[in-house]
Amino acid sequence: MQQTYINQLANHVDQEVTIKGWLYNLRSSGKLMFPQLRDGTGVVQCVVLKKSVAPETWEALQKLGQESAVIVRGAVRADERAPGGFEVDVTQAEVVQAVDGYPITPKEHGTEFLMDHRHLWLRSRRQHAILKVRHTIVRAVRDFLDTEGFTLCDAPILTPAACEGTTTLFEVDYFDDEKAYLTQSGQLYNEATAAAFGKAYCFGPTFRAERSKTRRHLTEFWMVEPEMAYATLDDVMDLSERFLSSIAARVLAERGEELKILERDLTKLEQIITPFPRLHYDEAVRLLHEGQERGELETKFEWGGDFGAPDEAYISKKFDRPVMVHRYPAAIKAFYMARDRERPELALGVDVLAPEGYGEVIGGGERATSLEYLEQQIDEHHLPREAFEWYLDLRRYGSVPHAGFGMGIERCTAWMCGIEHVRETIPFPRMLYRLRP
Ligand code: 4AD
Ligand code: MG
Repeated sequence: MQQTYINQLANHVDQEVTIKGWLYNLRSSGKLMFPQLRDGTGVVQCVVLKKSVAPETWEALQKLGQESAVIVRGAVRADERAPGGFEVDVTQAEVVQAVDGYPITPKEHGTEFLMDHRHLWLRSRRQHAILKVRHTIVRAVRDFLDTEGFTLCDAPILTPAACEGTTTLFEVDYFDDEKAYLTQSGQLYNEATAAAFGKAYCFGPTFRAERSKTRRHLTEFWMVEPEMAYATLDDVMDLSERFLSSIAARVLAERGEELKILERDLTKLEQIITPFPRLHYDEAVRLLHEGQERGELETKFEWGGDFGAPDEAYISKKFDRPVMVHRYPAAIKAFYMARDRERPELALGVDVLAPEGYGEVIGGGERATSLEYLEQQIDEHHLPREAFEWYLDLRRYGSVPHAGFGMGIERCTAWMCGIEHVRETIPFPRMLYRLRP
């Protein structure tokens, strides 16, 4: 029988439908049963009257445990008091699999337990809502870049060398004693495709063998990275603010129901509008020093250092929307960054810090164009020259100012959802102590 999805019930009021799903919850009172079914698109309350169904059906339904697979048939009734606005008056039911002892019950479970049962946890309302938001973010990202004239040119995952520093590389055996590394970023390849297409992007999984156990670090995460030829740091900041505000607007427009389940404060998302404040690294450091003097910050920050999570949170609290901190000391940034011409100790890089303590969601900037400078940087960073020869070709043949950024989808999703930890923003998270399921 043709299946009707729960999110389509509005189009079937007073009609007979077939719903194929799983039992979310079951209440019963004497001659009435209220099974709640979920089918991946939503949850609907069904009403079973003992006298409206066959005795075997009544018997079978009564014994069902959570997550039993069931197909029901019945008429859709609009009811304002019902959670989704509709109820189904069941006349027939078929038990596809009766389940007993589903491990995740409505009671509170610890995070470790839930993470161990991630393959089942995904069925719960909150996890479902988060991954729906992620899905919308991915679509928003692609639509934005496609509309802006970027061409999708995905970068390889197996690579011969580091992009973001050698300390966080996952090494894998390639053939004949050769080593390969899981990519940390597609950026170097983007620089090649940007020279071929003008504007290009890659969007795929990236890997960091980081021993960080924080609420924003994964060892495998998805990064979208746009890159533009004939572009500067300012162009990257312009693009970043339009990019993030378009994502927020899309999430607000399409995921109202999910944001409600997540109890997201919508005013925080409505504030993500251009222009974003731009803050020189020097000024950011000045803010931190002020904070220390006032006793609002415990850590002591020295000019030249990288911001820790409390520093980022402190800086972003000063603003009502994301803030773009630019021109970090070159010494703490990657080898490929262009230098500020007036202040060569500074790199033309930018980090976009999200409000509410979410910290860096975007990192990017302008790339160095000079062959000699990059040769020297590769040596100083102890990177294998031979693996970078192809990259240096980009500086030999038509080297122009170019710039781009990377955004981690999970950090963006955690922020949009207003949730504590990135582990809930990807179907199967990979973290320092988590490789399963
Ligand atoms: O700042 P990152 O390391 O920048 C790059 O990799 C550049 N090559 C990107 C570019 O310019 N094309 O990483 C960029 C973003 C961060 O801002 C953050 O959102 C995310 O990637 N990210 C992580 N997300 C989850 N877990 C981690 N361990 C992450 N490391 C970075
Ligand atoms: Mg960064």
